Amino acid sequence: MGKALITTQKLSNHFGMICTADNLDLTIEEGVLTSIIGPNGAGKSTLINLLTGYLPVQAGRIFFQGMEITRLPVYKRVRRGICRSFQIVNVFPQLTVSQNILIPILALTGRSWRAFAKISSERDAHREAEAILARVGLSAERDTLASALSHGDQRLLEVGVALAAKPTLLFLDEPTAGMNPVERSRLLEDIRRLSREGQTTFVVVEHDMDVVFSLSERIIVLHRGAVIGDGLPEEIKNDKTVKEVYLGDEVSGIFRYDEGE
Ligand SMILES: Nc1ncnc2c1ncn2[C@@H]1O[C@H](COP(=O)(O)OP(=O)(O)OP(=O)(O)O)[C@@H](O)[C@H]1O
Ligand SMILES: [Mg+2]
Repeated sequence: MGKALITTQKLSNHFGMICTADNLDLTIEEGVLTSIIGPNGAGKSTLINLLTGYLPVQAGRIFFQGMEITRLPVYKRVRRGICRSFQIVNVFPQLTVSQNILIPILALTGRSWRAFAKISSERDAHREAEAILARVGLSAERDTLASALSHGDQRLLEVGVALAAKPTLLFLDEPTAGMNPVERSRLLEDIRRLSREGQTTFVVVEHDMDVVFSLSERIIVLHRGAVIGDGLPEEIKNDKTVKEVYLGDEVSGIFRYDEGE
């Protein structure tokens, strides 16, 4: 087992009668590209919301790099290096691609967006933005309004915005949702490469089983807020409980995957 980055102890969440996190004892390891899968409503987004601070913790504890963060607000977790993207595209549509990237860069250096006009000549921030654009393959679109990008490019931009905050741990909630196959494979290549670069540990929520099995080094399977599978892709693919839970569900990709072998 590698070095623990984030650990939960008996993390629980209920929405009324629905249990979306059931005494979760989970560890995300540094540098291990981890996917979280499970049927609709399993609690995948809830888990990300709890770990990133978007939902208050009802019960249990969360540790990041050995320090408790259970009650830390979002911005303090971001400062410590825990970032996320959302299931729904979340960029500033009226700003250009490079302006979107500059926001977190300037925020990190303590400058507000308002001050941006005055320091637009500043080389460092721009150079850094350029580097990130290159990493997500959007250099050619730097001056395009975010709203004018294809859906796939908007999602890439989101990843770029998240990377600009220099995260240690980055959660991507269904990053390939709504992408065409070309955009999808490009994003996956990017995630793989960025993961290998080693600055950021990626945790990806994904429904497409082809994506999950080709991308992941570890897969966590959630069902009704509980972990019903956790292991290497090979192990999860052949796991009896996992197969049973997915049986009859629209997410039957695991079976298609097996049949294709
Ligand atoms: N803020 C909320 N208030 C009440 N119920 C909620 C809230 N957020 C989520 N839920 C419910 O909790 C359950 C788990 O939701 P969650 O979004 O975590 O699932 P998910 O695994 O991400 O599903 P999907 O694959 O559809 O995105 C669902 O039944 C959802 O309707
Ligand atoms: Mg979700």
